[in-house]
Amino acid sequence: MSEQCVIITDENSGNTLELPVISGTEGEPTLSIKALPSTLGYFTYDPGFTATASCTSKITYIDGGKGILRYRGYPIEQLAEKSTFLEVAYLLLSGELPTSSELADFQDDITHHTMVHEKLNTFISGFHYDAHPMAMMAGVVGSLSAFYHDKMDMSDPEHRMLAAKRMIAKMPTIAAACYRHHMGWPAAYPKNSLNYTESFLDMMFSVPTEKYEVSTVAARVFDLLFILHADHEQNASTSTVRLVGSTGANPYASVAAGISALWGPAHGGANEAVLTMLHEIGDVSRVGKYIEKAKDKDDPFRLMGFGHRVYKNYDPRASIIRKAAYEVLEELGTTDPLMDLAMELERIALEDEYFITKKLYPNVDFYSGIIYKALGIPVSMFTVMFAIARTVGWVSQWLEQEETPTPIGRPRQVYAGATERDYVPLESR
Ligand code: SDX
Repeated sequence: MSEQCVIITDENSGNTLELPVISGTEGEPTLSIKALPSTLGYFTYDPGFTATASCTSKITYIDGGKGILRYRGYPIEQLAEKSTFLEVAYLLLSGELPTSSELADFQDDITHHTMVHEKLNTFISGFHYDAHPMAMMAGVVGSLSAFYHDKMDMSDPEHRMLAAKRMIAKMPTIAAACYRHHMGWPAAYPKNSLNYTESFLDMMFSVPTEKYEVSTVAARVFDLLFILHADHEQNASTSTVRLVGSTGANPYASVAAGISALWGPAHGGANEAVLTMLHEIGDVSRVGKYIEKAKDKDDPFRLMGFGHRVYKNYDPRASIIRKAAYEVLEELGTTDPLMDLAMELERIALEDEYFITKKLYPNVDFYSGIIYKALGIPVSMFTVMFAIARTVGWVSQWLEQEETPTPIGRPRQVYAGATERDYVPLESR
């Protein structure tokens, strides 16, 4: 970290304070403000943490201005083209790409943790058939600590890594079980003869009455989508996992909190919201009307899948997914009018002064739903797909925090309520 500092002066008292500059290996420099309350008596105010770094991390780097995303230094474009989801998972967890034997051992490890306790299927069967799968996921993942308390000493690195691998391994099994419950189908179990993504697709779509052939196109595309959604530094759900983890809560509870945070339409729930929006717009002729609604301050409508807290350029993931969406539709020999509608919506928005000035570009959620839809994933399961992939990022970030002495997360506030006043007896009110 550099020895630079920024000096601030309180004009009221004339006191000054040197704020140390903290610089990482890449990215904007930050100011350490820890000394501010005790020296100048001020806290800082930053709703939504738009200008605040919450931690130091070595996992993912984003340059929002240039549209750069790297996992452990490797550009997302190269990983998307050359890697696999489990290899990326190893990279995010360990910091390095695995050798072939390390990868084989890791894959074997994950494969042999994909089953869940049979009682979890009983738990899932307790939900109403039309329960939203994200509600089910949050509940079921939060309950894992009730099943896997055998190795829960989080001061033990082996127990921590086991919990991390268990969650990576079991998310597809739980996700598919939630979907099958909704469909009224019998439980399906992981197949160790298949790879991670193929086994997930088999658990999602196989039925007892006939042999299910996993589509290699679908398996490769899902693997790509899982890579692209695996981590994204301190986004809302990852920050939630870190905050819950900072209290010493177990990793299953921390990830369950992350699932709930991801569900919001401003975050991972946007992929589902994009499809709903495209259906509502319905036709290219109505795009202009919805662009105007998105620009209207008095209208709560926003262009879902557009805009980003960090990217003020095209989200590099969106570019890759857009290309993959085209290829999937071509491979399947189908077209989707929603794809044409999305492309027209993007074209018009990117030419509009409002979107240009506010640097609003398509984000990771804008095109992913087109692919999920083409591959038979129901809209209500879109964010579950995101959660399966992001579990790798959540547990990697949780592990990193566990390995670093971290104070409990506890922001302050600007109090704007009533000042001191005496209790008024009921008869006098
Ligand atoms: C994800 O953080 C991550 O990394 C998240 C993520 C990940 O991988 O974890 O990348 C995944 O969550 C992607 C984002 C998915 N959400 C959506 O697509 C929902 C639609 N987008 C917006 O709600 C919004 O863009 C956010 C929430 C994504 C970002 O909001 P910010 O950073 O808080 O910005 P803002 O809301 O303050 O917007 C800045 C301006 C505002 O106008 P002014 O108040 O300055 O006049 O841009 C406007 C906003 O009104 N604006 C939009 C808009 N997004 C922002 N106007 C219309 N349509 C939009 N989509």
